Amino acid sequence: MKGIVLAGGSGTRLHPLTHAVSKQILPVYNKPMIYYPLSVLMLGGIREILVISTPDHLELFRVLLGDGSRLGINIDYAEQPTANGIAEAFFIGEKHIGDDAVALVLGDNIFHGPDMSSILRGNMRNIDGCTLFGAAVKDPERYGVGEVDAAGNLLSIEEKPKRPRSNLAITGLYLYSNDVVEIARDVQPSQRGEREITDVNKVYLEMGRARFVDLGSGVTWIDTGTHDSLFEAGEYVRVLERSQGVRIACLEEIAFRSGFIDAETCFGLGLDMGGSNYGQYLMEISSE
Ligand code: DAU
Repeated sequence: MKGIVLAGGSGTRLHPLTHAVSKQILPVYNKPMIYYPLSVLMLGGIREILVISTPDHLELFRVLLGDGSRLGINIDYAEQPTANGIAEAFFIGEKHIGDDAVALVLGDNIFHGPDMSSILRGNMRNIDGCTLFGAAVKDPERYGVGEVDAAGNLLSIEEKPKRPRSNLAITGLYLYSNDVVEIARDVQPSQRGEREITDVNKVYLEMGRARFVDLGSGVTWIDTGTHDSLFEAGEYVRVLERSQGVRIACLEEIAFRSGFIDAETCFGLGLDMGGSNYGQYLMEISSE
């Protein structure tokens, strides 16, 4: 399975923070935002990843992440000249996707929980259609919203409905079979001028090929799209890391524990950042 992190957009909701810098480079406590969605793909075992961003910002991600080899993965880059919609990711990424299935994660979405890796790996097998991950929220009107029956089957999906039919937000993590490239191409821009991911998902729903997985209480999901949620995300990471002595979305640790890199390489990465707690942590875990 291939992975895509969509990290473009104009970031207007976070102005003035995002006047001069990409939203997905902003810090969430001690790491750039993009580390979090990237960690999700890596936890799912995905090693071929495409980062899509605006022509202005792509270089920042190249400097930050390089070609991925230090993490034992491959990272490629592609431009989205204007924010014409999330569904564009599939035809921008067509070559990268090739004949494979694909996982798309939005660059401003944070997922955390002990079961994240097994949820992902379990749902990545034999994908035929789309798999959407839902989370209960207090403000569903801000998101794509899923309506499910008692057996958990998806009945409807609506993008930012004024009167949501449930409190289940469709999170920014999506798994698709290869035909998503074709389906996304046929989706027409919405009233706000975007090729909507929700319209892609509706096509699968109409074909009876959309699965819904409730992330449940074992996974915390934060869309960092507002000043408050960005701040809350930083607080969440800080509190958990300090109280439990763990690191959330530590890409080098995930690479090491997934067998993408060996202990020596992990130690070396820590040494390169030796002056920081983050670097110290990498040196410690690779010497355990
Ligand atoms: O976070 C989950 C929600 O993400 C879903 O529930 C919604 O169904 C989905 O439409 C999306 O809603 P948002 O309003 O949060 O989307 P936003 O425009 O903020 O874009 C999400 C991320 O994708 C953000 O990091 C910017 C990036 N993006 C967005 C668009 C439209 C791009 O890179 N290119 C784009 O063209």
